[in-house]
Amino acid sequence: MRVLFIGDVVGRPGREGLASAMPSLREQHLPDLVIVNGENSAGGVGVTAETAAEIYETGADVITLGNHAYRKREVYGFLDSELRIVRPANYPSANPGRGHTIVDAAGMRVAVLNLCGALHLQVDRSPFVVADETIESLRGAADAIVVDFHAEMTSEKVAMGWHLDGRVAAIFGTHTHIPTADDRVLPGGTAYVTDVGMTGSRAGVIGVRREQALEAFLTQMPVRFDTADDDVWVMGALVEVGDDGLARSIERVMVPVTG
Ligand SMILES: [Fe+2]
Ligand SMILES: [Fe+2]
Repeated sequence: MRVLFIGDVVGRPGREGLASAMPSLREQHLPDLVIVNGENSAGGVGVTAETAAEIYETGADVITLGNHAYRKREVYGFLDSELRIVRPANYPSANPGRGHTIVDAAGMRVAVLNLCGALHLQVDRSPFVVADETIESLRGAADAIVVDFHAEMTSEKVAMGWHLDGRVAAIFGTHTHIPTADDRVLPGGTAYVTDVGMTGSRAGVIGVRREQALEAFLTQMPVRFDTADDDVWVMGALVEVGDDGLARSIERVMVPVTG
């Protein structure tokens, strides 16, 4: 079973870039399951039913989120009703949406779990504890588990890799929008990468127009942020999962959007 995971889609440039790159990505990687992080898909922060629909139209099976999950109020009902979108499982359980979902891919029941880091981000509960509880609850209900760990700190992400090694098929790091070069299959059989990067403009500062980001750093004053739109890249990773629910390989994906 081949899982293609795509990092944070930022705004319209990210959505359009994904749509234009997906046919060739599908042809090249032949994924059975496509997971896309959509937390920045609406205007650079948050997601709406409309931006989610655009992402599904590109061939995504499941959308994951992160710290911007609730930025757009109008999405709350959608998060409750749509089974193929997940928000961090370690947020308050009464919040809109669900923390994991189970989908069928290549004859396997695959659970997709979203977790948010506790360092420099706000969470209700430890992502480590919630990961343990969720994995336990999925016993007998899923043949493989794939995690989007949306977190700021490399240390917390690497620690999660070791914590879950041998218990999940893959951990795809998201949130920093910058890809890391540490993709590998850990000794216990879990594919791991600290961050897959983002899908959007490389001409800005993690998705924001660079002159606005620079003005904020230089003046320390509030600055309006708009989404950068040129030099769009699609970033992610491809993981091959065996029948035992563990990874055989991981490969980073990083392609410029052309045409
Ligand atoms: Fe993001
Ligand atoms: Fe984020």
